[in-house]
Amino acid sequence: MNEKAIEVAILGSGQMGEHVLEHLRDCSWVRSITIFDRNPERMETLKQSFDVKTAATLEDVLQSPAIKLVFITASNNVHKELAIAALEAGKAVMCEKPMATSLQDATAMVEAAERTNGFLQIGFELRYSQLYTTVKDWIHRGLLGRVLNTQCTYISSAWGQHASWRVASETSGGMFGEKLSHYVDLVRWWIGDSVEEVYATCAPNVISYYEVHDNYHCTYRFKNGAVSQLTFMMGPAATFKGDPLQNAVSQQAGDGHILRYMIYGEKGAAETDVFPRTIKRWEFGGDDYGQTSAWVQKETWEPQLDFAYFHNTHDQAHDIVRRVAEGEPPRIDPRDALETTRLCFAAELSATEKRPVRLDELR
Ligand SMILES: NC(=O)c1ccc[n+]([C@@H]2O[C@H](COP(=O)([O-])OP(=O)(O)OC[C@H]3O[C@@H](n4cnc5c(N)ncnc54)[C@H](O)[C@@H]3O)[C@@H](O)[C@H]2O)c1
Repeated sequence: MNEKAIEVAILGSGQMGEHVLEHLRDCSWVRSITIFDRNPERMETLKQSFDVKTAATLEDVLQSPAIKLVFITASNNVHKELAIAALEAGKAVMCEKPMATSLQDATAMVEAAERTNGFLQIGFELRYSQLYTTVKDWIHRGLLGRVLNTQCTYISSAWGQHASWRVASETSGGMFGEKLSHYVDLVRWWIGDSVEEVYATCAPNVISYYEVHDNYHCTYRFKNGAVSQLTFMMGPAATFKGDPLQNAVSQQAGDGHILRYMIYGEKGAAETDVFPRTIKRWEFGGDDYGQTSAWVQKETWEPQLDFAYFHNTHDQAHDIVRRVAEGEPPRIDPRDALETTRLCFAAELSATEKRPVRLDELR
């Protein structure tokens, strides 16, 4: 164990809390792990499989001077109260996406971090995932030129749970934050500019018992003129009842699941495609014929690297603990995460009011 290793806590020990627990078991920056969940049975289940301490109350975590960092992996509707309480108790905070169920609550979280001079990082692990960091690197090296246009097609199976907090508007905060915030965050990160306007439109739901939308066609227009389009549909891909963070790519390939980006720049294009496990790049040129495009790079990866390429929550968790232990700031500034959150709520507003929404309406 590293001599600067710290004690951490996990607030909310459902599916995501368990993943974080697994990730932190092999982290040399972690001295000990305490879990707290409002469901004591859930804590008992995890205690049987993991070497963890349990806290009887949230206050026990907040009042422990030894605990320096809390991971908030509870349902979305309690992110704000847990994050602000932890920041005010002097803890560093990693909070899962979406930040909160309203823009006001998300803003209050960022203000609490600024008021307390605290550490707050939101769980946008795709910024740690090799499929997408490769695109960022290509853009950074100028291989695509200025990014002008991105298209994302995402088709997934349903969560399929009638009773889940995810399908109720109040506890979820909307499908955009809960499911699509990762993909909005990526294009902001790649394009590196702010969005001026969004138009999102939804067809009637196929999944009748969802309060949240199960589909969107959404277009973001950036200040620099770039346009990002996201098409999402939940339900048609074959029903998947496994763990969405384990072996999901192998089990879902070819059964209707799609998660594909095309990224077009002035000098070239890139494609990321999760289920065939490919990332490609083209270079544009010109000759007597006119515009030409040459396919210059193609990479693939082995199934055991799905995590590193796709949802790299492992490296994110380790990086955050190290940053807190070493006194470094968050890798993703909370104001940056708040801007992604604003884009998600702007898309929801556009879908509800059936009109384009300018981002400055949500200041
Ligand atoms: N980054 C990702 O790719 C990713 C993937 C899955 C889930 N998530 C996020 O992780 C969070 C949890 O999702 P999940 O799938 O683990 O949900 P889950 O329903 O499996 O677990 C949520 C847990 O939170 C607990 N909880 C609720 N209120 C609490 C409170 N006030 N204090 C302590 N515990 C409380 C519940 O008892 C439950 O055990 C959500 O915000 C979700 O959006 C992120």
